[in-house]
Parts: sequence; C-alpha cells; structure tokens
Amino acid sequence: MSLYERYVLPHLINVACGNKDITKQRSRVVPQASGRVLEIGMGTGLNLRHYDPDKVELVWGLEPSLGMRKKASRNLEQSRVPVEWLDLPSEEIPLDDHSVDTVVLTYTLCTIPDWQKALEQMRRVLKPGGTLVFSEHGEAPDEAVQRWQRRINPLWNRIAGGCHLNRPIPDLLDQGGFRIDHMESGYLPGPKFATFNYWGQAQAA
Ligand SMILES: C[S@@+](CC[C@H](N)C(=O)[O-])C[C@H]1O[C@@H](n2cnc3c(N)ncnc32)[C@H](O)[C@@H]1O
Repeated sequence: MSLYERYVLPHLINVACGNKDITKQRSRVVPQASGRVLEIGMGTGLNLRHYDPDKVELVWGLEPSLGMRKKASRNLEQSRVPVEWLDLPSEEIPLDDHSVDTVVLTYTLCTIPDWQKALEQMRRVLKPGGTLVFSEHGEAPDEAVQRWQRRINPLWNRIAGGCHLNRPIPDLLDQGGFRIDHMESGYLPGPKFATFNYWGQAQAA
C-alpha cells in the first residue's frame, strides 16, 4: 500500500463521503439494517451513527485498508452498535454461510476490483431472506455525462483509490445474482459525472 493510500486517501474519502448529501443517502438506507450486519468496505465508519441500536445486534466492518480502519477510530468509539473489524477484501469474506441478516453496501461497489466474486461472497453469507441495502454512485443515464465519465475515469481511478465513476450498478447486482426489490436513482447536488446515485434493497435471486 502506498503512502498516499495509507495516509492521504482516508482523509480525502472521509471528507468527500461525509458531505451532507451523501449523509442524507446514508440516513435513507442504513437504518433499514437489522440483526447481524456485514458492512462491505466500512471505510472511516461514516455509516455507524445511522444504525438503529434497537434493531442491530452486531456490525462486522469489513475493510481491507489499514489507513481507513485507523481513521475510523473516532466513529467506532461513538458507535451505539457493537462493531467487529474484518481486515480482508470482500472477495474473501471470512464468515460462515448464511450468517448475516443484512449486507450494507455504500459507495464501495465502485471500487471493489473483482465485484462479481465479491457479490457471490455476499450472497453466500446472507441468510435465506436476508437483505442487501445499498447506496452507490455509478453510470449516469445521460449520454453527455457518460462521455465525461469515460474521459475522467482513468485519472479518477488513480486518485480515488480504484473507484470507477461509471459502473452500471443495477446490472452489476443483477449479474452478481441479486434481485433488486426496490430502487431509486438520481443526481445528487455536485458535478454530474460523480453524483448519479442508485439506492435501494436487493435479495439473493
Ligand atoms: C469510497 S470508500 C467508501 C467507504 C464506506 N463504504 C462509506 O460509505 O463511506 C470505498 C471503500 O472500499 C474499500 N475497498 C477497496 N477495495 C475493497 C475490497 N476489495 N473489498 C472491500 N472493500 C474494499 C476501500 O478501502 C474504501 O474504504
């Protein structure tokens, strides 16, 4: 891991992903989680304050980056739900089959290198009837915006820790074996190439 990824990126992501519009997205999806929860790519723990402590028994925070886990310490201290770190990538989730009630996926599917394997792992650990709740940015519906996403993507990918601007999130979920039960989408305030969001709930198909 480079010095940039270890020391700079966690701060940048903490600020960028902590803005008020993304915080509103978190408040829409994270309170839907219940039981034993697996959060994929927990980052700096920005979702933690949105969990409902009356519904959530435990959050496994899967996060491969040491820099992110360190930067999350304050959010962990203030968490009203118990949190256990899993320091592996989502392609290798170290949990038993059918051990999770809710998978929480926010602003991470854009970054996971082998997203297909990761979604397969999420399906494996979800209990039958368990839910994936998600809020992700991705491919915009407008051709002009898509062109900008394609142009900027190579540079963005390097400065934003492997993030892709234009992943077609519903298609990825579908190809990863999830059936979307409910989804909304739209631009958040900000530059259109980075702000088209998809959020909702899915189940293993
Ligand atoms: C943009 S941040 C989002 C963090 C957090 N999910 C949030 O909503 O604030 C993307 C996160 O994905 C993590 N990540 C990168 N590769 C991953 C992988 N293979 N599996 C799981 N997480 C990964 C990064 O370390 C980073 O914390």
